[in-house]
This record gives sequence, structure tokens and C-alpha cells, in this order.
Amino acid sequence: MHDRATDPIGAATSVTAATIEIMILLSIEVGIAQVRLPVEEKRSARLSSHSRASPRDGYDTFTPCAHPFRWQFLQAICNKGDYNSLLKHQKTVMKDDNLQSIAKKLVAPGKGILAADESSGTIEKRLKSISVPSTEENRRAYREILFTTKDAGEFISGVILFDETIRQKTRDGRTFVKALEEQRIIPGIKVDKGAKAMANFPGEKITEGLDGLRERIAEYRQLGARFAKWRAVITIGDNIPTRTCIDANAEALARYAALCQGGDLVPIVEPEVLMDGTHTIERHFQVTQETLESVFHALYEHRVSLEGMLLKPNMVLSGKDCPQQASVQEVAEATVRCMKRVVPAAVPGLVFLSGGQTDQQATEHLNAMNQLPDLPWQLSFSYGRALQAPVLKAWKGNQANVAKAQQAFHHRAWCNSKARFGKYTEDMETAKAAA
Ligand code: 13P
Repeated sequence: MHDRATDPIGAATSVTAATIEIMILLSIEVGIAQVRLPVEEKRSARLSSHSRASPRDGYDTFTPCAHPFRWQFLQAICNKGDYNSLLKHQKTVMKDDNLQSIAKKLVAPGKGILAADESSGTIEKRLKSISVPSTEENRRAYREILFTTKDAGEFISGVILFDETIRQKTRDGRTFVKALEEQRIIPGIKVDKGAKAMANFPGEKITEGLDGLRERIAEYRQLGARFAKWRAVITIGDNIPTRTCIDANAEALARYAALCQGGDLVPIVEPEVLMDGTHTIERHFQVTQETLESVFHALYEHRVSLEGMLLKPNMVLSGKDCPQQASVQEVAEATVRCMKRVVPAAVPGLVFLSGGQTDQQATEHLNAMNQLPDLPWQLSFSYGRALQAPVLKAWKGNQANVAKAQQAFHHRAWCNSKARFGKYTEDMETAKAAA
């Protein structure tokens, strides 16, 4: 620091430098505000009653002059030398912009997500279905087939990995993260610890994994993950789901999403209402709507930025064992109607799970939804089984079948890419994939 009495020139230089710094920061703020304002005005016109933006980004009211000038920012300028708050504010703005950019890339037109994050128990089941033992090497070899499929990046924007998988390498020694990045595919990570029986609520589940999550997120970010996933499970049955189960899962999802955004990962929020059971499509609609209402309420309360997240919902379907099965068109219309009621337009995209549908059904439903008018979000996929079933069937654990398995994966991804534009047709099932 320069003393004004003993070093007037140095003191003047410091003041000038500080003034210039503030002016630069101010002009960045104004620039961001000017770019954001028209976008936000357009968005706010479309927002539903549930879509009040979160206070986190300073848009907590619908005043037309809403922009990122916040009290915190102005106070920082007035507070002599409080440059740290100033810089912290800038960092938050930049982090939010980065989250939004990743979220948008994940739902880029024609692309969707591969969920390859099966936990140890689930992957064991999948491999067992083709009589392959679930050793670490078999799991690695299987995932390598998926991640190194040539040109997969044309249809796949991101891959969700499991803790073991994000640390594994291809046979030629590249980390899976690097192999995916070379295909322009964004690596993501499952961060929940699984759905466990909920105490005092027979037949219902609560997802665990909040303990130590902040530290796990930091490690995964360092390993190269750019987005994350947390799955909550809601079961339909006699007298379930209960409000307690729905709200407890919604609260955990919101806490997870807030931690992710703080740790620079885009959260994929997945509240899955299972299709297992004899329920009608109307019941599935009602439970899905109630669940999503609770989830978006919790996200709002936890100040999660809606622009910097993605929703991974179930489609609205007839229960697997319901004698009356809804048609493709009915499923598409019910799903979009339900989403429009509760999902704010500020969310950049919905990436549906397949949830036990066949691969072809999942593609047909996505296709029919994308043919409907006035969709406020990108409607995409984040399929596990519906992308992998044909790959497992072709591979059968035999190295000689790798090329065939990769072809099956490329073909399935291509069909779903077409469905993103509403341009999928049944004859594509037997056609050769073309970009
Ligand atoms: P399915 O598409 O097989 O339902 O898997 C998606 C997923 O990631 C479940 O968490």
C-alpha cells in the first residue's frame, strides 16, 4: 500500500488502477445484463406459475430491469477495498454461464446421453443375462465397446459413468474420460449411493449419498466429470407413494443439485416414478405430476439455477402389468401435458430415462413427443437399457463380436437421434445407420 503523504504518486497510481479494475468489472456486468435481458424477458413470458426463477441468480422477481446487479455487488464497490467479494461475484457469474453452456451441449439437437453408470449389482445382472461373469476386466471391456464406438459422438452428447468406470482405461492405456473427450462426448458421473428401503415406509425407497458429497464432487470434477446424476425412485402401489416419501426424495435431489452447481457440475435431477405395477396411465400421470411439483418446489427453495440443470423424468406410461396399454400417441401426449404443467421453461432440456421399455418403444415414444407442437424445452434421451440391450445381445462376452456390438450401439444411437427431430420411422430398425 502507498501512503498518500510520503508516496503521492504511488497512491495515485493505486487509486487509478483500482478505479480501472472496477470500471472493467462494471462493464462486464453491464455487458452480461444486456445480453441476458432480452433472453430473460422472452423466457419469463413463457414461465408457468411454478417457474419463478431462483434467487441464486438475482432474478427473484419479474421486474423487467432484473439483471445481475446485486446488492452484494454494489456493496462490494462501496465497501472500501472489498475486492474479494467483487471477484467472488464475478466467479459465480462465470460458473453459472459455464453450467448453462454444458447443459445446452448435453441437449444439443440430434444428440442424447448414454447412461452407463450401472452400480456393481446392476451391471452384474446385465452381464449375467448374457452369461458373462461380472469381473472388473469384463465390466471394463464391455464399457470400452460403448465408449470407443466410432462416430458415437455424432449422436451421443454425454455418458454417465460409475465410480469404478471413471477411473478405468481403454486397452491402449487412455483413461475412459480421455477416450470420450476425443469423441467430443462429455463425461458425467453418478453420485448417489443408491435407493434404500425407507425406514417406517414399507415398499418405499429413499436415495442416500449426501454425506461427503461435496468432497466426492470435487474429486469427480478433477477426474474430468462435467455433469452428475442422482436418481430417486418413487413406487406406485396400494397406498403408496406417500407424501413423506415424495418430499424426502425431492429434498435430497435439491440438496444434491445445489452442491453440484457449487462444485461446477451440471446436475441431472432424476425422480423416477417406476412403471412397474398394474396402475393405469392416469395414475402414473397423477403421481408423476405430484412428484415433479415437489421436486421443483424443493429446487426453488434450495436456490438451484434452473438454467444450469437438466431434468431426467420418466415418461407417463401404463403400468407394465396393466391390462390396458396406452398407445404411442397417448403416451407422448400424456407425457408432454404432464411436463408442461410442472416443468419450468427455464430448464434447458428433459432427458428421459427408458425405465424398462424395449429399445424400440423408447425410441417411438421420444419420436412422437418431438412431433408435438410448442415444446418449450429440448426433449432428449438418457437411456441405459434402451441403448445397451442390443449391444449386450451382440457382444455376448466374445471379443470376436466387438465390431458387431459397436455397430448395434451406433445404430441404436442413430435411431434415437432421428427421434430427437421426430423423424424416426420403423423401417430404420433394419436400415443401416447413416449420419
Ligand atoms: P434406463 O434407461 O435403463 O431406465 O436407465 C436410465 C438410468 O440412468 C436410470 O438411472
